[in-house]
Amino acid sequence: MSDVVLRTNAIPIYGFLSYIMGVIPAAERAVTPKILDCGAGGPLPPLALFAQQGFEAIGIDISDEQLERSRQFCSDRKISVEFRKADMRQIPFDANTFDYVYEHYSMCHLDHAGAVQAVSEMLRVLKPGGMAFIGVISTDSWPSTLFGKEHRTGEFVGAEGAHTQVTHSLWKDVESDQLVAAWEVVDKEKRINYLRDMAAEVSIETWMDLLRESPQGSSAEEWRAAYPQRQDYYRYVHTYYYLKKPIVG
Ligand SMILES: C[S@@+](CC[C@H](N)C(=O)[O-])C[C@H]1O[C@@H](n2cnc3c(N)ncnc32)[C@H](O)[C@@H]1O
Repeated sequence: MSDVVLRTNAIPIYGFLSYIMGVIPAAERAVTPKILDCGAGGPLPPLALFAQQGFEAIGIDISDEQLERSRQFCSDRKISVEFRKADMRQIPFDANTFDYVYEHYSMCHLDHAGAVQAVSEMLRVLKPGGMAFIGVISTDSWPSTLFGKEHRTGEFVGAEGAHTQVTHSLWKDVESDQLVAAWEVVDKEKRINYLRDMAAEVSIETWMDLLRESPQGSSAEEWRAAYPQRQDYYRYVHTYYYLKKPIVG
């Protein structure tokens, strides 16, 4: 397992894995639990870790390129994971198929309406009593210009890496709580990442441009005076939900 270094993903993955293995009583866990990752592609596929822990791991992703990367990662290490090309807004599996569903940093690329569809699909394919982990980007993130231009409320489009038109959706707490209203919320976490390196490079001019987004509605003078503390302002905030599909009846 030592070469599965899931750098940026490690915290949510280990959080969910430790919940499953540490909190759910062994008697209530399937012998070979079946897990679906929505948006599973990329160079460091989270499912590799679940597969190594004895899960039957199935991942869907909309991008051939990302799927190729994750397949390569798993085949190089002889880790058994099934990857399929599919859209998480229309998951190609029957209802009540999976014990667990995992999603991290993928649904954030859908608009709000798409995320509503995706979460409803995750609920459908989970077995009653099954658990999901999902994350959304919180509107507590700052500045929102990190995500590009706001096209619709909470929906931003901007450049990311080699791609110029990447969507990021941001959610107020009340909105993301509503997104998961059909589930039992077992746990909810807010995670703040300070973007200190990025903030350190921000010029005073750019800082002053952000005045209209100042969290506490500062005056221009107060904002200028806060420039040395800019590293405390730049933050990426995720809201993570640990969810259970209710058992009806
Ligand atoms: C930033 S990557 C994260 C990948 C992976 N979850 C991880 O943590 O390493 C986002 C992934 O979501 C995928 N994605 C975006 N929209 C999707 C959709 N509607 N259905 C399935 N996958 C999607 C992208 O192709 C991309 O592989």
